[in-house]
Amino acid sequence: MSQEIKLAYGEKMPLEMHKVRIVQKLNLPKVEDRYKFMNEAGNNTFLLQNRDIFMDMLTDSGVNAMSDRQQAAMLIADDSYAGSETFNRLSAQVGKMFNTNFFLPAHQGRACENILAEAFVKPGQTVLMNFHFTTTKAHITRLGGTVEELIVKEGIDPHDLSPFKGNFDLDLLRERIAALGAENVAFVRIEAGTNLVGGQPLSMENMLAVADICKQNGIMTVLDASLLQDNLYFIKVREEAAKDMSIEDITLKIANAMDIIYFSARKLGFGRGGGIAMRDEALCLKMKEFIPLYEGFLTYGGMSVREMEAITVGLQETMDFDIISQGPLFIEYMVKELQKAGVPVVVPAGGLGCHLNASEILPHLSHAEYPAAALATAIYIASGVRGMERGTLSEQRNPDGSERYAELELVRMAMPRRVYTLSQVNYAIDRIKWVYENRDLIGGLEFYDEPKVLRFFFGRLRPTSDWQEKLVAKFREDFGDSL
Ligand SMILES: Cc1ncc(COP(=O)(O)O)c(C=O)c1O
Repeated sequence: MSQEIKLAYGEKMPLEMHKVRIVQKLNLPKVEDRYKFMNEAGNNTFLLQNRDIFMDMLTDSGVNAMSDRQQAAMLIADDSYAGSETFNRLSAQVGKMFNTNFFLPAHQGRACENILAEAFVKPGQTVLMNFHFTTTKAHITRLGGTVEELIVKEGIDPHDLSPFKGNFDLDLLRERIAALGAENVAFVRIEAGTNLVGGQPLSMENMLAVADICKQNGIMTVLDASLLQDNLYFIKVREEAAKDMSIEDITLKIANAMDIIYFSARKLGFGRGGGIAMRDEALCLKMKEFIPLYEGFLTYGGMSVREMEAITVGLQETMDFDIISQGPLFIEYMVKELQKAGVPVVVPAGGLGCHLNASEILPHLSHAEYPAAALATAIYIASGVRGMERGTLSEQRNPDGSERYAELELVRMAMPRRVYTLSQVNYAIDRIKWVYENRDLIGGLEFYDEPKVLRFFFGRLRPTSDWQEKLVAKFREDFGDSL
């Protein structure tokens, strides 16, 4: 069983339980070029070119390293439009893992969300959830539904040390069901773990309690298992009731309580794809017709058969505690090292990545100046490391055009699983500490090109002053001619 390794001299440290056998050369442009590239990209880290990036910590989505076993499986993919053996293998693996009988393939997580929303959300209905994800909310609201978030209050307190900050507030769940009327709740969506609140997990106990409440009220439960891998790790190490359970048993216990389980296999399963699993044929029939319409035939759903083979093996590997410990342990290491330097980060360390608290790092900036986006540009300029804004910029404006200020202004430094070594993580930590020491230099951003939908993906911004030039000058002063 992997854990942190105790060293003979010094503290514990996370250890890679794998070796690298294929490498990709990286490029670290000089700071003046990084400044130029950032502005060519409209100060939006999504619009940078990968060739100009040293460490890509934008996301964990579709960028996790594959294993030798996954690569080997890709060679035996059965390339057929209909009735592929590859699909049968993936479907059987999903069924074994979640104790489900039906599997609908889709090309990624948001495609599953589109289908779920089309099949189950009627105008005027509400979907209750612990916390929204950008694409989930966009699909539900597009169809006239409303999203309500019922996360425990600790979830949006970046300092609270509770172990399961992604949990539902169960009293609030009961209250909202009673107030809305069960018939007006399309379904309850359980996002385990959470994305937009710092990768914080839910406990097994909380998920089972949510499912119970839903059953009592005749409401369908939908588990978004995209980030389940990290959440399983946290249940195993933080929840007393699960400490002697295997990862397989924890997964089954949760899955058995759910009506529908969907996932992005860009995260769960170390591949690129997704799917929806369920036990009840009637539920399957409500969604089935949308697969050929939006995704592709029922035995590939928009995925390549090679990716499907990789996901099958990736899901098997997700049941291996050694493998799923690596991401959370690296994230915890980064969080702790930054904390030692006083950098405000979300605690306790969650899954998905290390989350920097931009509101506290840049208290001189208002929400309207997009502090998290500004911090992400500063980090790239200082390091060539790309993170992602998860704050006001990632929100959609209110219907009247006013800004909807995010509860948390975060920069997510995602930790692609099995990709970076500890020395690369140490480099990122070093440069983030430097940015923090020079935080007074950092100013705001403003849009000059703002899309109406999901603006964070391709909106373009500019700095509100020459603060980035000053940051580059300070970098040169402190680092000489170092990259
Ligand atoms: C919790 C959660 N649900 C759904 C999605 C959407 O998945 P995809 O990016 O594959 O469309 C994501 C992606 O980040 C996610 O984190």
